[in-house]
Amino acid sequence: MHRFAIMSAVLLRRFTRTAVVSLALVVGACGLVFPDNMQRFTPAKAGVASADPRATQAGLDVLAAGGNAFDAAVAVAATLGVVEPSSSGFGGGGFFLLYEADSDRYRFIDARETAPAAATHDMYLDADGNPVKGLTVSGPLAAGIPGEPAGMVYLAENFGTKPLAELLAPAIYHAENGFPMSRRALLGLRFRKNSVKQSPAMADVFLPGGELPAEGDVIRQPDLAATLRRLAAQGADGYYKGETARLLVDGVRAAGGIWTLDDLANYTVVERDPLVTSYRGMKVVTAPLPSSGGIVLAQVFNFLDGYSDEQLAGVQGQHLLIEAMRRAYRDRALYLGDTDFVDVPVQRLISRDYMDAQRADVSLTRATPSSALEGIPDDGSSGDQTTHFSIIDTDGNRVAATITVNTWYGAAFVPPGTGVILNNEMDDFSIKPGVPNEFELVGAEANSVAPGKRPLSSMSPTFLESDRGVAIVGTPGGSRIITMVLRSALAWLNGATAEDMVSMKRFHHQYLPDRVSYEAGAFTAADIAALQAMGHNLKEEPRPFGNMNVVTWDTSANRVTSASDPRGEGEGRVY
Ligand code: DON
Repeated sequence: MHRFAIMSAVLLRRFTRTAVVSLALVVGACGLVFPDNMQRFTPAKAGVASADPRATQAGLDVLAAGGNAFDAAVAVAATLGVVEPSSSGFGGGGFFLLYEADSDRYRFIDARETAPAAATHDMYLDADGNPVKGLTVSGPLAAGIPGEPAGMVYLAENFGTKPLAELLAPAIYHAENGFPMSRRALLGLRFRKNSVKQSPAMADVFLPGGELPAEGDVIRQPDLAATLRRLAAQGADGYYKGETARLLVDGVRAAGGIWTLDDLANYTVVERDPLVTSYRGMKVVTAPLPSSGGIVLAQVFNFLDGYSDEQLAGVQGQHLLIEAMRRAYRDRALYLGDTDFVDVPVQRLISRDYMDAQRADVSLTRATPSSALEGIPDDGSSGDQTTHFSIIDTDGNRVAATITVNTWYGAAFVPPGTGVILNNEMDDFSIKPGVPNEFELVGAEANSVAPGKRPLSSMSPTFLESDRGVAIVGTPGGSRIITMVLRSALAWLNGATAEDMVSMKRFHHQYLPDRVSYEAGAFTAADIAALQAMGHNLKEEPRPFGNMNVVTWDTSANRVTSASDPRGEGEGRVY
């Protein structure tokens, strides 16, 4: 039930109000049957929500110039890569979930980074087998082969209507003319200052005179503008081959990295089937492996579905949700990785039977210590940044995109002459079983390092559909992405607006470490006392979670709403 259900609901309302057409008309075997003179039902407005007002504006401008949601997505992603360099960009990767209204199809574009061909299983361990501190976090060894430029080109060439050069123009403009340093971007830069100092090409731009810029100082990126011009003129070859590729590889190797020209030339995006699941009348279309998001969401929904509304109410509902998170993240750690390299029992993991069996051991009143679940031993650490945007156009095309350089400013390394901040996505691999990464996630062999492999992700661009209409959802937040999307989905099912979804207070459990981390205000004092009495270990986090961007289309009112997280500096607008 996607467009079919949405439009059925809309049409039913419309038709029962006007009593013009019989029900049989809308219940076609494989889709809708329209009366000859009826146009397809489409959103009254377009909506764009992103983490930066300039990126949102770039998307709206493309739509105003007659581009579709996919064109707009390229412009938004490219602009974010320039004006929100802490979070995503041309040295990173990501996932684009699409809905094509014409063909009524979902598409998932995996533009995740790949490990370079010279990567090895134990490359981040010393001679004694211990992790070498910082190697997956800063500098060129931390960087996978970027996928985001290829993703943008793929999107423009296969789904867009406008020339790539036109879609990259706003990004080039901001790279050339500069953008004022924002509070958030500065926060991240302060955090990464020492690493940035190690990369002269990055320090030249981001630490003028060797010092942090002030908020509002204009940051110009002329090398990046030149890189983008080559991309605009030559498409993927303008990045993955030729001068840009040479500069990237030279810069990486000169600083001790292992990339080759072949690594870049061989990079391809992969189209995958999105993971589709449902919960109590809500259809959820979301990210498949190498994102863990879809599987974790499906597992949690299957777990919750075994309980009644009464059981899921109040503090007991919070307890059961935490127990669901614990078990799904345990499976993430044990079983999930890039299916092009390892076998993952996906169908079994997302089957209802599997979660039924897990539920059998769950107490309604007591927390299960994670150590009581068979799995991976606890060790003990944290990190931040990435970006998500949501778009719908007036034809009903949709984009949910989560793109990233991983932690703040990625590897904090720029190969000279490129202006490209490289990701540190290699940290998303499990460098040794049980050793936590920057997001305190542990993993096993399924997510070990191998040449060409994609590190397991939590990024979860998602479409929700029900008789309410559509919600386009996603957020940064590392390991917490999935539980943020999860709780927004549950809230939307219960009537939450786009504004409610981006604003709601968040909590999270990821199996290990065995604790519920939460934002101030997520629980009442009474909830906290009750959860502690059940045996839950709770920790209020000093920093807010995520930076969610949501677009909703309420089909009964035909109203599009766009909302950006109050924790961030983004903007949601309709057009
Ligand atoms: O793919 C992932 O799961 C991570 N690289 C995402 C990083 C992230 O969201 C950082 N944000 N706080």
